Amino acid sequence: MYLDNAATSFPKPEKVYEAVMHAMRDVGASPGRGGYRRSLEAARILFQAREAAARLFSISDSEQIIFTQNATGALNLALQGTLVSGDHVITTSMDHNSMLRPLYALRNRGVELSIVSTGHDGVVSVEDIRRAVRKNTKIIAVSHVSNVCGAIQPIKQLAELCHEAGALFLLDAAQSAGYLPIDVGHYAIDLLAVPGHKGLLGPSGTGLLYVAPQVNIRSVIQGGTGSHSTAEEQPLVMPDGFEAGTCNLPGIAGLQAGIEFVLERGLSAVYLHESALLNQMEQSLRDIPGVTIYGPADPSGRCAVLSFTASGVDSALLAAELDHGFDIAVRAGLHCAPMAHRTLGTFPGGTVRVSPGWSTTSEEIAFFSDAVVQCIAKIRKSV
Ligand code: ALA
Repeated sequence: MYLDNAATSFPKPEKVYEAVMHAMRDVGASPGRGGYRRSLEAARILFQAREAAARLFSISDSEQIIFTQNATGALNLALQGTLVSGDHVITTSMDHNSMLRPLYALRNRGVELSIVSTGHDGVVSVEDIRRAVRKNTKIIAVSHVSNVCGAIQPIKQLAELCHEAGALFLLDAAQSAGYLPIDVGHYAIDLLAVPGHKGLLGPSGTGLLYVAPQVNIRSVIQGGTGSHSTAEEQPLVMPDGFEAGTCNLPGIAGLQAGIEFVLERGLSAVYLHESALLNQMEQSLRDIPGVTIYGPADPSGRCAVLSFTASGVDSALLAAELDHGFDIAVRAGLHCAPMAHRTLGTFPGGTVRVSPGWSTTSEEIAFFSDAVVQCIAKIRKSV
């Protein structure tokens, strides 16, 4: 049983596999690299995928969407493509290394960095962010939903603060895209980083960055774009200038099918399914003596993941027991977000993180909960 959809979603809807195979077997060519019919068909797939993503995030011009390898690629482009020495950026202690490591690298190049601690529930205070704002604050960058404890950040208020402060709002939607409604206009999002392979149900190796039209961004990868070939400088034409090199057409074709699946199912149905499973799991885990669940106390403040520890039980050992004894895949440890664990009080051991997906059933969650009880009893007996 696969319960690690926060790392990458599995299985994918059947149409995703079919779209990948269609792009590989029947199309085969590279978009924008030839005038023949196969290349034009590849360009059509790319365009339709951009249009599907634009529909999901209410983006009026799909050319403002740049395909990347994953959310990490999108965050690197957003940060390295906009920040220069002397700029100030604010993020939170709940953010992932995909946000923090590019920021640490930029700090070494003269960018000022403030990391605002969230509460022990993983939710950041808008007032704390406001206090960190400086005259040179260029970006406020936050993950919408914590990949460790599922805490949902108050993005409407954060966006308002950004615009009062004259800063750009960068939203990392790694764990929220495909689960929560994200309307770039409603939330005044300037930069939106999205993985294609998690809630959007596309293949791994896919992601995207939305760049609002008013944002000036530099390319971080230079190379062939299929146009403006005589220019020595990278053409900053959206989106091609930011997608140098041959694209991942099979991946993007699959991503389009994944997005269409989410759109057809409807975000509210996805969210209701996911939250019902998380609530069921939480109720069962709370009955186990010594189990602590992290994140906001109110389940409506959480999304996508549930993290827990059991007293006297090593999280990595518990995950290994679940895998070997019951064929259940969950992630244990720090989840590439060490600062989040320091804030939640779960550093250095980390937590066991469970993330159901679109095809997970209530019966599977009941099986998982029984397995946890048995594994904890076995581990406690052995120590
Ligand atoms: N960031 C992904 C996770 O949290 C890989 O598992």
